[in-house]
Amino acid sequence: MSNMVWNGCDVVELASRFGTPLYVMSENEIRSRMRRLKDCMAKGNDNTQVLYAGKAFLTMAMCRMVQSEGLGLDVVSPGELHTALKAGFPAERIYFHGNNKTEEDLAMALDCGVGRYVVDSEDEMVLLGEMARSRGKVASVLFRLAPGVSGDTHRYIQTAHTDCKFGMPLLGQGLRRCVSAAMADSGLDLLGFHFHVGSQLMENRAYLEALEVLGDLMVTLRDEVGFEVRELNVGGGIGISHGQGPEVDVEAYLGGILERAKGVCEARSLALPRLVIEPGRWIVGPAGVTLYSVGTVKEIPGIRTYVSVDGGMADNPRPSLYGAVYRCELANRMDEEADSVVTVAGRCCESGDILIKDVSLPKPKRNDIIAVMDTGAYNFSMASGYNRLRRPAVVLIKDGQARCIVQRQSFDDLVQGEVIPEDLV
Ligand code: LLP
Repeated sequence: MSNMVWNGCDVVELASRFGTPLYVMSENEIRSRMRRLKDCMAKGNDNTQVLYAGKAFLTMAMCRMVQSEGLGLDVVSPGELHTALKAGFPAERIYFHGNNKTEEDLAMALDCGVGRYVVDSEDEMVLLGEMARSRGKVASVLFRLAPGVSGDTHRYIQTAHTDCKFGMPLLGQGLRRCVSAAMADSGLDLLGFHFHVGSQLMENRAYLEALEVLGDLMVTLRDEVGFEVRELNVGGGIGISHGQGPEVDVEAYLGGILERAKGVCEARSLALPRLVIEPGRWIVGPAGVTLYSVGTVKEIPGIRTYVSVDGGMADNPRPSLYGAVYRCELANRMDEEADSVVTVAGRCCESGDILIKDVSLPKPKRNDIIAVMDTGAYNFSMASGYNRLRRPAVVLIKDGQARCIVQRQSFDDLVQGEVIPEDLV
């Protein structure tokens, strides 16, 4: 028998110590990925900023890592904002996103003093201006734009095409009107623009196209309304390979974006704005694995063997939602040859709850441990309570030491907040 060692920890030992299903995250990996991005952006350009997109994975411990590595934080909801504030994250390093921020959300953000509002519509701009003025504050704003480009990715996570719920459209005169109005609004300080092409992009082509579109727009706005862009946020989206081909060369990917931004500005005699990126997946995706225990192994003769594990679509909805492909290992029998092709199924009451189809493994049996790789992004954060499965614990490994950063839900947590009306017999 030989056990899988991941980031200095025997994962089989972690499974028996903390139980399964278990999300395991590596602090060393998360920190080194954040540093790499900062280095890439700082190279050849001293006016850049890296943010972490909290939607990929957010807990208070994660906020601390983001803070201590000197990154900013992208939040999209009052819940994410609260998590960050509760962890002591400085509000001025927070960018507040979202296509439908409520008045309550904006009030919360204004009261704590978030650093940037990424405004998604004219309606939000007007509301934010009024609310800021009534508090005697000035909100620093980027307008999110839909530059009309498409990245190569699943259609659910393309976000910069023209017919899209996100961003202000470039069609018609609306944007020009908004820029003029924001410039005249004493409650707003319009710094520039934001776009997010999409997520899980293995190449930077669509960003480069979007930068060209933005370059032309910047010229128009400079000439027609005298607006100069001081900050440009090109979103997140850097993909990870999940073992399907090479990983993104992040230095070349970001280097290309920086170079194009410079070229676009130089060619149009525009001052180069501060450049911001906000990746989520690339930072945390490969920094996480999920451990499961094998239960039932069912062979349908001549067709398929289903290996059922004690988690599934409730802790990782990505295979059923996007057809995402994951890799896994039989973590307690790493020395054995793969002698079978099996399908790893979850325990939810849906046939679509399949984690991995047709994977070669040593034939799994009850109580084996399966480690699904690269689950650090959009797994914990998209977990549901379907079938009343308890959300797994999260363990953070640093230098081979494991600490629990999110406790497993208890059965009582599941009914917490529920009320049985007195008249209900
Ligand atoms: N910035 C904005 C405005 C975004 O909407 C997103 C992701 C990001 C940054 C971070 O993107 P990343 O670097 O993580 O690709 N649930 C989907 C992903 C949805 C992404 C939504 N927006 C999934 O599991 O693939």
